[in-house]
Amino acid sequence: MIKIFKLLQIVLLSSFGFLGLLSSASAEMTPAGQEALVKAGETMYQHRCRVCHSNDMKHPSYGPPLKNILGRKAGSVTGFNYSDALKNSGIVWNEEKLREWIKDNKSVMPGTRMRHVGITDKTEQDFILTFLKHISK
Ligand code: HEC
Repeated sequence: MIKIFKLLQIVLLSSFGFLGLLSSASAEMTPAGQEALVKAGETMYQHRCRVCHSNDMKHPSYGPPLKNILGRKAGSVTGFNYSDALKNSGIVWNEEKLREWIKDNKSVMPGTRMRHVGITDKTEQDFILTFLKHISK
């Protein structure tokens, strides 16, 4: 019996560890905290991204729509005229790549058509990433 309990404990601990890796910012956060983060993210998105990006797949604006960006292959929205650099980058967008991109997209990908964006503050990056995750569900 004790053995089984131990085993259960190990399984539980390791799966929590895994969840922690998946969402480091929200492991202990309450739903209200999470909601606040998403709102902060939306505010940042409105200021820094919305002028060029809608999140409506049917009505792209100057930039490609960012709905479901997490896990999406770069340059893959049909009908959007991407630069060769982005189309051929081989990137699959994950949190780390998106963080690098919004920090300094022109260095990450010299041939991109996206104007330089330089969000260097880690908290502001977190806000935007939370929002991008939110519209990727
Ligand atoms: C001045 C307009 C403009 C702004 C501001 C802008 N973008 Fe972009 N973005 C673009 C364009 C244009 C592209 C396509 C670039 C290419 O084809 O090289 C793009 C591409 C992207 C891509 C790749 C999408 C894909 O389908 O692979 C991501 C991710 C992205 N932008 C995120 C952001 C985020 C997040 C912000 C705000 C922090 C932002 N962009 C701000 C114009 C903009």
